[in-house]
Amino acid sequence: MSMSCSACFALLVAGAAGKAAPSVSTARPFVAAAPPRAAPAPPAVGPRMPRVDERVTCPVPEEGIEHAVALMREGLLFRYTYPTGTESPVTTCENALAAYTGHKYAVAVNSGASALYLSLRAAGVEQGAKVLCNAFTFGAVPSAIVHAGCEVVYVESGADYCIDIDDLRDTLREHPDARALMLSHMRGRVGQMDAIREMCAEAGVTLLEDCAHSLGVRYDGVHTGHHGVACGVSAQSFKLLNSGEGGFVLTDDPEVAMRAAVLAGAYETNADKHKNLPEIEERFATLAVDLPNLSLRMSALTSSILIPQVATLDARIEAYSRRYDALVANVRASPAANAALLIPDDLPEVAPVHDELLFTIRTDALARAGGAGAVGAFQAACAARGLTMNLFGSKTNARNFVNWKFAPHARSGPLPRTADMIQRSFGVRLPLQWSDDDILAIGDVLDWCAAEVFGT
Ligand SMILES: Cc1ncc(COP(=O)(O)O)c(C=O)c1O
Repeated sequence: MSMSCSACFALLVAGAAGKAAPSVSTARPFVAAAPPRAAPAPPAVGPRMPRVDERVTCPVPEEGIEHAVALMREGLLFRYTYPTGTESPVTTCENALAAYTGHKYAVAVNSGASALYLSLRAAGVEQGAKVLCNAFTFGAVPSAIVHAGCEVVYVESGADYCIDIDDLRDTLREHPDARALMLSHMRGRVGQMDAIREMCAEAGVTLLEDCAHSLGVRYDGVHTGHHGVACGVSAQSFKLLNSGEGGFVLTDDPEVAMRAAVLAGAYETNADKHKNLPEIEERFATLAVDLPNLSLRMSALTSSILIPQVATLDARIEAYSRRYDALVANVRASPAANAALLIPDDLPEVAPVHDELLFTIRTDALARAGGAGAVGAFQAACAARGLTMNLFGSKTNARNFVNWKFAPHARSGPLPRTADMIQRSFGVRLPLQWSDDDILAIGDVLDWCAAEVFGT
């Protein structure tokens, strides 16, 4: 008789506790279910989204599933279980990703935020140091800075969602004691990298890159993450690599790589298993006593499901780009959407990866519709047609700097440009599992709702 996975898991858990497994049908909810609410009537006319599961994530390739199952059968889950290290799937995964991005070294860890935190520590940014960061980013970025014991100083983000170069110049001047810039390529948007690198070098500030969401994006033909001393990549589910949780520190600096490996948890003879870090055997005796073991390693299981995904990155990027370009052309050719919504172009130096449509409602459209309240009305109109959009400046959004009380922006002074931009800016996911027509339907819904709310 076959049994569902969740039923198997329930039996295992109950067995471990020496009790009979509760059957699913007798399980009682902890709280009484709320009475069903009447669903809003669907609009009678106009477009609707054919699919509404915008949080659907990419499945793991069969090859990765088979690899993971084989590892589980053998119990070979710890990255250092393997005799010399070269047979470890974690090493294979590190080598594959480094070869893809062109970095000399990769250290696999348990999340993107861990990679950012480790990059600060591996680059020698001391506790108490001031670390600059663009204000439009995900809350995990200031969190990683706080985790490293540093003080966050925010820099304004511009209408193109990237760091505001003029404000970066001013902030560097106002904070001559700043030690590092954690530059977040938020949602894969990449700013003026040469100018940023120059400003940091002049100010003696260590440049680190948050490439959590910019894997595959190239600047002047080179992958992101090479302008700074090190960068962090994420393999959390809504990224191009999906292992649920996972991350990498990538760098061209051997000392930073060795420090990241030891900090992540290469203790005792395990350090010798980093054959991709040639000098680690000589340096280990010193590093092992200077640095704590923070146990942020990636497991072999995680890497086994990532290896085949690295191999298909460029094919998937190509698919994302083709569909994004068609959608943007659709929006720009639609009179109401084009008049109301601004989709900033990437810089000419950037070969982007767009797994999401970002746009900002134009101020003149808002004025036509009676002011800021029209942002919510537009979001509600789209939701009624099945289109879910993420308003970055909403009260509960983890990308709204106002919500980061743990790293208050008050110390950096007001951030009026970022505040204004995020209160009018949305992200719409473009899942690869959706068909081309599903993606194009987003443009139809945006146009219809723009006409409804902002007029033409
Ligand atoms: C811009 C950015 N930076 C950092 C992170 C943190 O990555 P992780 O969730 O793997 O810790 C994310 C995750 O969504 C992100 O979007």
